[in-house]
Amino acid sequence: MRLNSNIKIQNSKLQKLVPRLLDWFAANARDLPWRRTRDPYAIWVSEIMLQQTQVKTVIPFWERWMRELPSIEAAANAPSAKIHKLWEGLGYYTRVRNLQKTAQQIVKSGKRKAESGNAVYQFPGNFDDVLALPGIGRYTAGAIVSIAFNQPAPILDGNVIRVLTRLFGIAENPKEKTTNARLWQLAEELVCGAHNSRWGERPHELKQNGGRAQAPARENVRPTNEKTCSHLNQSLMELGALVCTPRNAQCLICPVKKLCMAFKENRVDELPNLGKRETATARHFIAFAVERDGKFLVQQRPAGVVNAHLWEFPNLEVTGTKPEGEAVFHKLFDVKPKVIQPLRTVKHSITRYRITLEAFYVSLGGTGSTRPHAKTKSRIRGAGPSGRISNTGRWIAPEEFDSLAFSSAHKKLASAAAKSILSGR
Ligand code: ADE
Repeated sequence: MRLNSNIKIQNSKLQKLVPRLLDWFAANARDLPWRRTRDPYAIWVSEIMLQQTQVKTVIPFWERWMRELPSIEAAANAPSAKIHKLWEGLGYYTRVRNLQKTAQQIVKSGKRKAESGNAVYQFPGNFDDVLALPGIGRYTAGAIVSIAFNQPAPILDGNVIRVLTRLFGIAENPKEKTTNARLWQLAEELVCGAHNSRWGERPHELKQNGGRAQAPARENVRPTNEKTCSHLNQSLMELGALVCTPRNAQCLICPVKKLCMAFKENRVDELPNLGKRETATARHFIAFAVERDGKFLVQQRPAGVVNAHLWEFPNLEVTGTKPEGEAVFHKLFDVKPKVIQPLRTVKHSITRYRITLEAFYVSLGGTGSTRPHAKTKSRIRGAGPSGRISNTGRWIAPEEFDSLAFSSAHKKLASAAAKSILSGR
């Protein structure tokens, strides 16, 4: 897929959009930490974290990751437990494993930055090479090469789809092939328009828009012509995130409302037309914080299932009429609990599932044996979509919970379990 920077904007509306979006971004862009760098590694990490996760959630995760693993080499060589711990709470953990796999591939390919003799590896600077990396699709490749290298690669994600379908009054479903291709084409014309524009070079260009005064551009985000592609793409993301929002769009402060078909026709709330939502499926899991001698049994999820490699309390998916906690416990373990009582219920959604995780605190008393699975059945049946959960377990004290990466729901159970010990159940 060749980038074509010679695409000329045919449409006068697209031509008008480019300077308005760049002006608006210069004055209104959020000061996000990954916007202070042009290091492609740092931008890549931010884009992977930002897939399916909101900006405000990502900020502390990105800062911590960059502190702990500041280079491609550091990411490639980090132990699996460390990358999972750094990602703990962000969800969609395949992202972090692909990120590491890619870092390892880059290190293995051995390309170093020209200026450094030692271990500084070079992130590819070519769109096709970036697109070929594991876990990187057309959107992410476009975002990385436009932001880090100012290349005229288009981007199209949920935010950009919303902005473009509204601006151009596109009522067809954006997932449909020809409509999707049209949206990519519009995104491409915009970024090529930015590439070919001389925006930012001459001060009078800031005074477009009928010569009215503009808010002064913030120095740190004012694009020179070396950043117009980067800023045009980010202006679309930013407009979608701050102004052209799914509900209660802030049309009155929108910099391009005069060019917006949906605004003109009062159809903003109807677009984009995403078709019928798949209805969510309810799923119910029962988990056990099994305690013996002040330690809890935890187990690591195997490779190839949802939340692979993360730690959790033993659990089982249940269906049909609500079963008793104790009956479910006996499906998993062949020991008699001294105490079994409700601990906490956590509700959360993941992809199209609405999950209820109902947890029980179980005390086995002080038997002196804390060998994993000393008396547990050898298999834990039916948990999770894979139908199986690893039976590699560990008994750990609550002070050690923080050293392992738990899935978000089980991290909440871990806090509740730690409290249950403190309060001396
Ligand atoms: N969403 C996806 N990429 C983004 C970025 N670079 N900045 C803000 N939001 C984003």
